[in-house]
Amino acid sequence: MKSIASAPGKVILFGEHFVVYGVKAILCSINKRVTVTAEKTSERKISINSKIGKLEIEPDKPISEINSPLKPFYYLANKAVENKDTGIHIQIDSEIPLGAGLGSSSACCVAGAAAIFKLFGNISREEVLKLAIEAERTIFENTSGADCTVCTYGGIMEYDKNKGFKKIEYEPNFQLVIINSNIEHSTQSMVSKVKEFENKNTEEFSRLSDLESKLVEDVLKLVKENKIQEIGQKMNQNQKYLENIGISNKELTKMIRIGQESSFGAKITGSGGGGCIFALTNESNLQNILKKFKDNNYECFSTKIDFKGLNTF
Ligand code: MEV
Repeated sequence: MKSIASAPGKVILFGEHFVVYGVKAILCSINKRVTVTAEKTSERKISINSKIGKLEIEPDKPISEINSPLKPFYYLANKAVENKDTGIHIQIDSEIPLGAGLGSSSACCVAGAAAIFKLFGNISREEVLKLAIEAERTIFENTSGADCTVCTYGGIMEYDKNKGFKKIEYEPNFQLVIINSNIEHSTQSMVSKVKEFENKNTEEFSRLSDLESKLVEDVLKLVKENKIQEIGQKMNQNQKYLENIGISNKELTKMIRIGQESSFGAKITGSGGGGCIFALTNESNLQNILKKFKDNNYECFSTKIDFKGLNTF
């Protein structure tokens, strides 16, 4: 019997990095997905197959001995087969660009947890999320949990590391354009970089966190009122705070400038240092922005908010 699950990628609209320090973030899931297919095998082995590589190992190895980007899947499968006389084969298929800040690893953890554990019985979304965050921690220890949460529940939400998430129940009338710098980045190392900044500039970081908190509260009101133009201005402001904490660079700043000149607002999404930026626009300006970036040789696409979240088959 096969168990299949899929989970969407995500965009952090506001509050990345600050969310790790307890500031509220606003994020949404997007219509690009990871699909994981899991199957029990008679041989007691864990085998994983994906575009980024393969892994085939016996269960019961300490997680610290697994040196592979597929480690979260090993963690999940190993936990699932504990004290059981079965192995697991896992197939991963993804539409989400890798290492680009679009939640590919979180979506993998969520879809992986659901597909693997469903082989052994029913599992709730809450349990899937808990397992997904545990799995993500094997490669990214300090995750705020924001990405896995939105990949599980979908839609647009506010997220607080300590208080959890709250769905935003109206469908915003905006379009998102995602532009990929094609510079690979590691979330773990960008989060460590911000930690260093915070250690060296405690007061400045605390001032910026307060400003970010206020900005997020303002945006939550603007979203309700559907004030797209003002939301765009807040994005530009948020981008400045991200530049202040050192996660932008020359290439990203160049892309942001093109975005800000041709849309309501543009900012980094995710951990920065590379990956993607996004621009906020409306239907009538959408093709114009896509053309602007394409003319400048950037890989870009428009995306829609996914309202489904985790899906199991
Ligand atoms: C990464 O997509 C978002 C960060 O805020 C890290 C996290 O929230 O765990 C940079």
